Amino acid sequence: MERPVRVGVIGGGFVGSALVELLNDPERHEALVDAATAPLELVGVAVRDLSKSRRGIDSALLTTDVEKLIDSDLDVLVEVAGGVESARTYIESALKRGVSVVTANKALMADSGTQLAQLAHEHEADLFYEAAVGGAIPILRALRSSLAGERIERVMGIVNGTTNYILTQMTREGSDYASALAEAQALGFAEADPTADVEGFDAAAKVQILSTLAFGTRLSGDEIAREGITGVRDVDVEFARRSGYVIKLLGVAERVGPFGVSRRVHPAMIPSSHPLATVNGAMNAVFVEGVKSGPLMWLGQGAGGAPTATAVLGDLLDAARNRISGRHDVPFSGDLSLRYVDAGELPSAFYLSVDVLDRPGVLAVVAGVFGRHDVSIRSMEQAGFGDEARLSFLTHHALQLNVSATVTELTALDSVDSVSACIRVIDASFE
Ligand SMILES: NC(=O)c1ccc[n+]([C@@H]2O[C@H](COP(=O)([O-])OP(=O)(O)OC[C@H]3O[C@@H](n4cnc5c(N)ncnc54)[C@H](OP(=O)(O)O)[C@@H]3O)[C@@H](O)[C@H]2O)c1
Repeated sequence: MERPVRVGVIGGGFVGSALVELLNDPERHEALVDAATAPLELVGVAVRDLSKSRRGIDSALLTTDVEKLIDSDLDVLVEVAGGVESARTYIESALKRGVSVVTANKALMADSGTQLAQLAHEHEADLFYEAAVGGAIPILRALRSSLAGERIERVMGIVNGTTNYILTQMTREGSDYASALAEAQALGFAEADPTADVEGFDAAAKVQILSTLAFGTRLSGDEIAREGITGVRDVDVEFARRSGYVIKLLGVAERVGPFGVSRRVHPAMIPSSHPLATVNGAMNAVFVEGVKSGPLMWLGQGAGGAPTATAVLGDLLDAARNRISGRHDVPFSGDLSLRYVDAGELPSAFYLSVDVLDRPGVLAVVAGVFGRHDVSIRSMEQAGFGDEARLSFLTHHALQLNVSATVTELTALDSVDSVSACIRVIDASFE
């Protein structure tokens, strides 16, 4: 039998304790040894507070001295503590010693992934981060290995469970945004401060990671257009439903021509027949379109201690097997020749909702503004409310910057109260 692979874990919270449970499960023991090609030896679990009770973790393994843990002749360090600065310090410290690292930390990978991957390579160590995107869904491994030879055209994901839960409740129950958010918070699907989720920051970090593997773009950087769901209203969700669409928060990374790539997060209306439209509640899914593979989709639990721990464990087994065979994976270098295409340069259909004074001639004035900016109207619906009316438009494909100019000019009109929604419409390209 091979020598044991020495494993240290930073973090004994949801993911860390679920991982320790998997490592200690006697029914999995043989399979883990087979997959790692050696027994795994858990050397220690670093936490902040030793006095907390932790189910399933032997208290003799707990420590608050992370550096000492990293320095205890580890083969693999698992970082499931979160945060950016301290996690980066610990991961750098491990990699510089040639210790392979497995992390679930999307914020850190989006921030410093390129540098950390380089550091891993220099020190002949692995850096794996499957759990950083889509929880249990093995999408990064699929992009890295199974689809390594395919030309990916587009990756489109529902990669944030909190926002998908909120939008699902708005669609199914007709709830408004505020009450759907309050319900998500009460059920533990949303944090007390939901900003990172509802404003799309979390999804943007995941898009960054996905686009690295799909297109070889840099792992870190800030060229992601981001728009959250706080402006999505119940009337928009209802309009979408009547028109055969569902509103989802999408993370999109797509090739634009031979030398361009667009990366963005925004709410979008997608046809209710699209596979992503059926992904409800806190579930995540990633939809990939390859030139030869055609459409592919992965669906699963994007969060939760145990689901996330399964992805961490898969990485740990890969890293352990590499240690035993004396090799390491070469990280993606990033194709810096790709140009980031601004979302404004891309054509899309749009849904616009315009609140106007209900006076004769207003519709003609509004339609004229669309025409002046080269935005052609596909359909229009009018609903009256006393002296006011709501005009809901679906447009044909138009450049986003032309649609933005339309919105600006409409907003300045005396007869227009507000443009209360401007949401992209994605028509199916998968059939
Ligand atoms: N939970 C999920 O569903 C999920 C899904 C995907 C990815 N992730 C990622 O996985 C990571 C962990 O998430 P989690 O939900 O397990 O978090 P968590 O429940 O808050 O646990 C964090 C753990 O890390 C420990 N810790 C934090 N900072 C530390 C430090 N500086 N030194 C030593 N220990 C430290 C904490 O110690 P104490 O217990 O003593 O406070 C705690 O045990 C995060 O990066 C998160 O983004 C989580």
